[in-house]
Amino acid sequence: MTRSRPSPPPGPMSGHEAIVSRRTIRQYLARPIDREALRRLVDAGRLAPSAANLQPLEFVVVDEPEVRDKVFPALKWAAYIHPNGDPKPGQEPQAYVVVLVNSKIREKMYEYDVGAAVEAMAVSAWSEGIGSCWLISIDRDKVQAALGVPPHYRIDSVLALGYPAETSTVEEMKDSVRYWKNPDGSFHVPKRAHRDVCHFNAF
Ligand SMILES: Cc1cc2nc3c(=O)[nH]c(=O)nc-3n(C[C@H](O)[C@H](O)[C@H](O)COP(=O)(O)O)c2cc1C
Repeated sequence: MTRSRPSPPPGPMSGHEAIVSRRTIRQYLARPIDREALRRLVDAGRLAPSAANLQPLEFVVVDEPEVRDKVFPALKWAAYIHPNGDPKPGQEPQAYVVVLVNSKIREKMYEYDVGAAVEAMAVSAWSEGIGSCWLISIDRDKVQAALGVPPHYRIDSVLALGYPAETSTVEEMKDSVRYWKNPDGSFHVPKRAHRDVCHFNAF
C-alpha cells in the first residue's frame, strides 16, 4: 500500500503527490505564514467547484495573534486521543481560515461546496509545506462573536494552519479507525486498504 510521507516532501510536488501525502497536522512551528501564502490558499477555496455555481462560501482569514487567541479556545482537537492531540503550548496554529456559508445564497446542501473548498485549501497548503487541520468540532457562537460575523452567515468549518511540528503516517487499517500517537510523538492514521474500497467494473 502507499504510505504517506511523514511531512510534506521537499521541493515541487505533483498534484497527486500533494493529495496523497497530505496528512492532518495538529502541532505547528512558531513560524508565521506570510499573507501571500494565505491569499493563495483562499484562492484554492474560492475557485473550488460549487454546486450550480452558486458560490455561497466566504472566508475569514485570521493571522493576528490577538484574534488567533480568541479562536483557539473554540476548537476541539483529535477526539480519539483527547487531550494528547491538542496543540502543545507554543505549537498552536499560526493562522486559520474560517469558512462561512452565506445563508442568503444557500441555506442547505452547501456541505459539498465546503468539502471541495476545504480540501482544495488543505492540499494547496500542503503543496507549499504548510500543515493543516480541518475542524468542525468548534464552538460556533464563540467564533461568530470573536470575528464579528453577521447572523446570516453560518460558520461551517475552521482550517487551522501552520508549518508542521509533528509527523503523521498512514497505516493500513486493521480493526479500528482510531488514529494514535506513539510515545515519540509520531502520529499514525489508519486508512482502509485500496483492495477494500476500490472495485473495477462491478462490485
Ligand atoms: C469534515 C471533517 C471534520 C473534522 N473535524 C475535526 C475536528 O473537529 N478536530 C480535529 O482534530 N480533526 C478533525 N478532522 C480531521 C480528521 O480527524 C482527519 O482528517 C482524519 O483523522 C484522517 O487523517 P488525515 O487527514 O491525516 O488523512 C476533521 C476532518 C474532516 C474531513
